[in-house]
Amino acid sequence: MKILMVCLGNICRSPLADALLRKKVKERGLDIEVDSCGTSSFHEGKSPDLRTQENALKHGLDISFLRARTFQKSDFKNYDVIYVMDRTNEYDVLQLAETDADREKVHLILSTLKDEKHVQVPDPYYGGEGGFELVYNLLDRATDAVLEQITMPAL
Ligand code: 4NP
Repeated sequence: MKILMVCLGNICRSPLADALLRKKVKERGLDIEVDSCGTSSFHEGKSPDLRTQENALKHGLDISFLRARTFQKSDFKNYDVIYVMDRTNEYDVLQLAETDADREKVHLILSTLKDEKHVQVPDPYYGGEGGFELVYNLLDRATDAVLEQITMPAL
């Protein structure tokens, strides 16, 4: 199973989702590959935003090893599930889809959470609502839910 996390810049939200899921996959000894990318190429090759790195470190998570890359059409073939952070990411990724199979792979990551008022992970780059701590909280819970869905599919 291969899972791809997608946001706009691949320096704030999706690298955090990526690193959280990688850590949980490793801890549980699961055979799941995880990566992340952005719909834009603004930050291609860059490390995660320092504010995201600092917030993750506060929670004991090192994300400094990740480097930004841009979403490509071939990602539809290479990944089984594509989680997007917000509706703009969803729109941008779906613009590149060619088949229904491609489109069916794309999900808002917070759709994995029940009773969650946020439908989208707010972009913290320009000082969004609740900032980096809210993003961490949402993605920590969502990555738990992602693994729960895979290991314990709904009856
Ligand atoms: P991300 O946040 O999509 O969570 O990585 C952003 C990073 C950079 C920009 C916007 C959002 N930017 O406009 O450069």
